[in-house]
Amino acid sequence: MPDSQNQSQKILPASAAASPTGSSLAGSTAIVTGASRGIGRAIALRLAQLGARLLLVARDRAALTALHQAIGTVAEILPCDLTSASEIAVLASRIEAAGDCDILINAAGIGKIGAPLHQMPVEDYDAVLATNLRAPFLLMRAVIPGMIARGTGYIVNISSLAGQGPLANGAAYAASKWALNGLTYSAAEELRAHNIRVSVVAPGSVNTEFGRGGKDRSKMLQADDVANVVAMLITQPPQSFISEVRMRPTQKP
Ligand SMILES: NC(=O)c1ccc[n+]([C@@H]2O[C@H](COP(=O)([O-])OP(=O)(O)OC[C@H]3O[C@@H](n4cnc5c(N)ncnc54)[C@H](OP(=O)(O)O)[C@@H]3O)[C@@H](O)[C@H]2O)c1
Repeated sequence: MPDSQNQSQKILPASAAASPTGSSLAGSTAIVTGASRGIGRAIALRLAQLGARLLLVARDRAALTALHQAIGTVAEILPCDLTSASEIAVLASRIEAAGDCDILINAAGIGKIGAPLHQMPVEDYDAVLATNLRAPFLLMRAVIPGMIARGTGYIVNISSLAGQGPLANGAAYAASKWALNGLTYSAAEELRAHNIRVSVVAPGSVNTEFGRGGKDRSKMLQADDVANVVAMLITQPPQSFISEVRMRPTQKP
């Protein structure tokens, strides 16, 4: 089991590890959605290793609490259902009021994959779009003014290779990720002049609860692989902006 999935022990070293570029995130505050498990959890652990102060978002309070204990004192947990307009408004207000977010990682996502579009319940379609597209928009809207004021910031939206092609029996998921890409590319152009970098990371199959479904899990990407890419992006020197990374397992699962 990779470190990011082991919830029972203290995982972090006593001192922050060096990033791939040798940088540290000490003094930075990072919001990570989807932090209760999978890719978001792995990213939260990696950013904590780099010294960031973390705000952990997901619905599962117990899992967030376990991660908080694994990380130590640097994390605050912010349980939130990202499909709930009222809950996300409270979260956005909290973020806006603090005005201290340097890094936003939108990793929360759902698939509802498995049936043709014409059989998809409308409520499932709405939940996919709310989680995968509307929530990143609302959180970006909450953090960007503070980033502009400080003249720096980094936003990473976890998309998917399904955001670049068709996905039979996953049309709403693919549509949400195509749209998330467009949102990200466009915001990136709006914000470059403010020294705010907005990137897409688009993985193929990753070995998480989401990625289950008859594939060979030993051949999949691991959540830590995605976390390493996110760490590489956000520790680039200020003049360097990697706008998009597409990730594939070496062997097809
Ligand atoms: N795994 C893959 O093969 C794969 C491939 C490409 C892209 N991705 C993308 O990677 C991201 C993370 O996926 P994963 O593989 O880590 O999936 P996962 O293991 O199922 O984790 C999904 C995360 O999203 C959170 N979440 C879901 N609905 C939420 C809601 N309404 N409010 C708040 N949080 C919510 C979950 O937390 P709670 O349940 O605690 O709320 C959980 O932390 C997603 O955007 C996914 O589309 C995954």
